[in-house]
Amino acid sequence: MAKSFDVVVIGGGPGGYIAAIRAAQLGFSTACIDEWKNDKGGPALGGTCTNVGCIPSKALLQSSEHYEHAGHAFADHGIEIKGLGLNLGQMLSRKDTVVKQNNDGIQYLFKKNKVTFFHGRGAFVRGDANGYEIKVAGAAEETITGKHIVLATGSNARELPGAPFDEKLILSNTGALAIGEVPERLGVIGAGVIGLEMGSVWRRLGAKVTVLEALPAFLGAVDEQIAKEAHKLMTKQGLAIQLGVKIGAITAGKNDVTVEYADSTGAAQKAVFDKLIVSIGRLPNTNGLQSDQVGLKLDERGFIAVDAECRTNLPNVWAIGDVVRGPMLAHKAEEEGVAVAERIAGQHGHVNFNTIPWVIYTSPEIAWVGKTEQQLKAEGVAYKAGTFPFLANGRARALGDTSGMVKFLADAKSDEILGVHIVGPMASELISEAVVAMEFRASSEDIARICHAHPSLSEATKEAALAVDKRSLNF
Ligand code: FAD
Ligand code: NAI
Repeated sequence: MAKSFDVVVIGGGPGGYIAAIRAAQLGFSTACIDEWKNDKGGPALGGTCTNVGCIPSKALLQSSEHYEHAGHAFADHGIEIKGLGLNLGQMLSRKDTVVKQNNDGIQYLFKKNKVTFFHGRGAFVRGDANGYEIKVAGAAEETITGKHIVLATGSNARELPGAPFDEKLILSNTGALAIGEVPERLGVIGAGVIGLEMGSVWRRLGAKVTVLEALPAFLGAVDEQIAKEAHKLMTKQGLAIQLGVKIGAITAGKNDVTVEYADSTGAAQKAVFDKLIVSIGRLPNTNGLQSDQVGLKLDERGFIAVDAECRTNLPNVWAIGDVVRGPMLAHKAEEEGVAVAERIAGQHGHVNFNTIPWVIYTSPEIAWVGKTEQQLKAEGVAYKAGTFPFLANGRARALGDTSGMVKFLADAKSDEILGVHIVGPMASELISEAVVAMEFRASSEDIARICHAHPSLSEATKEAALAVDKRSLNF
């Protein structure tokens, strides 16, 4: 007899594994099916995020930043290093260890929460409001049934037409995280989040990095003032960023790749790279779900169509994370996973899309939540802005990293915080205060009146809030 569960989650990335844990916490018998394999063919829970996304990229960003500091920043602190060397093999193997710790951590959490794990590919066989049959194809094949199905099958990197990923010369995020030798000339197509993070890693390790971006504006979704500052700082670090290009033919040779493109003036250009990272966005992954077996509806862009509460067109079938609309972020997927499990339990799960933070883990980091200044202008919202530079922050001076600023945008009348934008050290951590404030609909004055520890980077947040009312104390 087929094993039956209250909830079957397909996909064990941050959306799926968190949905499974929350469902189990709520008392449902829960299964999670995930097909990701490690290099030995065993399970590797955590999806894109853990295996070839958030976690390995942050491991390499940290290692490469240490290397750059050791080579360039330590001398200023009076630390002299002679014979500094790079052991890339060790750096990559540390990254793999960090990934494995996270894979194993999720398996442990499944055991702890009594989530039954199936290693293999899950596909619909048949079903209706009374339940769904799901075939698991893997080491051992079996069919299980679930009253509720949560689809969390994630996304895949988008290829450029005519330039398929071979992960040797033309690399997706997977190859970009595992280059065995620092390339002399690295090309990156797409100056988005992956392009800038991975471009930074390999530049710090010694590659000459050229980033080719189609749009005329740098980081168009980021507040313009912050994006301008980030562009200036990254260019100064040595990332050669070309905006407004039109990519033409890409030809992979034996050991290099040639990219033909028109630059922003329309002039024809040709560049030869030892490796090429293509990071031009990601596509929803519904491969292998056999969605037509049950009539699951996709939207015109291939995402699983869902309502505001992650319900699909099929009764008791839900979808979350990268495979549905909204930002492709691990924490967005997790929040949707929790909310769906709670909705299945008849509770009122909720995800506030207005307070989902974004972080780009370059150096300096870029982080934001809420509206940008250009959005407020376009929407005709009357606002006040306040900024504070890290240059005037004592902790930033002590750290030796005074680049960037904190910027507050608040409603002109009510003073409610509408957006907070940071480019600077530890922006990823600082943004949480702004998220909490916005979630509680705080005013900039609320932040300005809160006691912040001294010396700390968070004082820049308080000062930017004070600046909304033109009363910064330290600038
Ligand atoms: P995924 O993580 O993609 O997981 C889907 C899982 O489902 C996979 O394990 C897949 O094998 C499995 N699967 C698919 N189909 C089936 C099937 N039919 N049967 C069984 N299993 C199946 N986001 C952040 O918030 N912060 C970051 O710092 C960050 N860094 C990133 C860096 C890179 C290089 C990349 C590529 C992405 C990064 N992201 C980051 C985005 C983040 O990884 C995704 O938003 C997140 O992984 C989405 O989670 P998910 O659960 O929806 O899907
Ligand atoms: P992206 O959407 O961030 O950036 C893609 C860039 O490529 C854009 O600037 C776009 O204009 C450009 N582009 C598109 N087509 C092009 C073309 N033909 N030629 C030149 N440029 C072109 O996508 P990316 O970097 O691939 O990352 C995918 C997603 O993964 C991100 O949007 C984000 O959701 C997630 N991610 C999140 C991270 C984080 O939270 N720190 C880190 C990395 C990825």
